[in-house]
Amino acid sequence: MLLAIGSDHGGYNLKEEIKKMLDEQGVAYRDFGTHSPASVDYPDIAREVGSAVVSGECEKGILICGTGIGISIAANKIKGVRAALCHDEFSAQMAREHNNANILALGQRVTGIGLALNIVNKWLNTEFAGGRHAVRVDKIMNLEC
Ligand code: RB5
Repeated sequence: MLLAIGSDHGGYNLKEEIKKMLDEQGVAYRDFGTHSPASVDYPDIAREVGSAVVSGECEKGILICGTGIGISIAANKIKGVRAALCHDEFSAQMAREHNNANILALGQRVTGIGLALNIVNKWLNTEFAGGRHAVRVDKIMNLEC
């Protein structure tokens, strides 16, 4: 499983912490930037990570900005992306089980590092439940225009 990860400057520090954890766990990832705390525009990063996920290059993606809001809104504009902004582990679990979210969004200025790492672990280790939820996710995807 190859994971795509990216952030703007507002999420840069948390991205680096998540990468350390992924390294410790032996989880493979591709870092789409940003590569320094210098200011960048989050839609550019969302486009890179979202495209990598919908093309199949990466199975899932993680996006981080200051709040997680802008970068998740941007990612959800890309056909095939289901980005879920999560602030707690239960939401991360449901985002996978019920919504089959293929991108997790986090807000570095909102969620502390310890909780954010727990959210990432929950999200990475929860499978889509399918069944009635697949019908609903299909209906979401049919809303794309
Ligand atoms: C950047 O200052 C900030 O606006 C961005 O990281 C994010 O919070 C946007 O939603």
